[in-house]
Amino acid sequence: MDEHAIKKEIIRLKKEQDVLILAHYYQIPAVQEIADVVGDSYKLSLEASKTDAKTIVFCGVHFMAETAKILSPEKTVLLPAIDAGCPMADKITAEALAAYKQKHPDRKVICYVNSTAAVKALSDVCVTSSNFERVIEHFKDEKLLYVPDKNLGKYARRKFDLDMEVWPGFCCIHNDLTPALVDEMKQKHPEAAFIVHPEAPLAVIDKADYVGGTKGLINFVKTSDYQRYIVGTEKGILHEMRKTAPDKKIMVLTEDLHCWDMKKTDLNTVYHALKNQVHPITVEEKTAKEAKRALDLMLALSAS
Ligand code: 13P
Ligand code: SF4
Repeated sequence: MDEHAIKKEIIRLKKEQDVLILAHYYQIPAVQEIADVVGDSYKLSLEASKTDAKTIVFCGVHFMAETAKILSPEKTVLLPAIDAGCPMADKITAEALAAYKQKHPDRKVICYVNSTAAVKALSDVCVTSSNFERVIEHFKDEKLLYVPDKNLGKYARRKFDLDMEVWPGFCCIHNDLTPALVDEMKQKHPEAAFIVHPEAPLAVIDKADYVGGTKGLINFVKTSDYQRYIVGTEKGILHEMRKTAPDKKIMVLTEDLHCWDMKKTDLNTVYHALKNQVHPITVEEKTAKEAKRALDLMLALSAS
């Protein structure tokens, strides 16, 4: 089938089977275009928690689909590319976190949503890049541990002057950014704003005109007066940015900002998922219940 025919089939199957297609901003443009909702991790969790659709097809990576399943246990959640993981989420295991908690029972655990259900289940609350400020605010006088992203953790710790240890995990894509790369691009485009995701190292964040999660970065491009932007996050985001601000010049800091796992989903895998009901996400009941407690608290605190 050519692209047009696959798109038509996806739309037909989606209606016939009462399916909601969710896609993250890092997905390829063709997948973003067939999705019912495109968003950041937070928005996609919210959509998953409130949809009436029988099935969710999650175009993203495993922890995102798993989060959708935890929030909507009665729904079928399908991940089109079953091997689409998040290397950052794999940087901590539930066993290692349990061992830490035994040694430090006084520290509350703040868990980035880029983590497995088993790690969420051992945490006090979850956060995403768009709500960590609001959520952490409620814990700012406590002793804390942030897992698994050392970069976002250090950024939050400095911003709120927290007593917070950080797990040594990272996103291999954002963590590779350097201040030298920013300087080089700024020299070529001195009038451009440099904007970056908080998963980047602090030395890179310190060079930024704006720091935010994917939704925040898109909003900044839409609303600020700058006409040019150097973007320090995964390059799939440029699709939405260019749609939202067609007259502005938007470039990625480096072509290496490419998340291979996010790119494992394409129209063929989405079509296959719908047609054959693959690959359903399952989460063990007790783990799901505990992880939901940490996610529900995040949803409640970020709405307050
Ligand atoms: P957002 O929550 O900002 O969408 O980011 C998810 C992610 O995986 C960033 O690398
Ligand atoms: Fe995980 Fe990094 Fe890919 Fe985001 S960009 S899904 S943190 S590997």
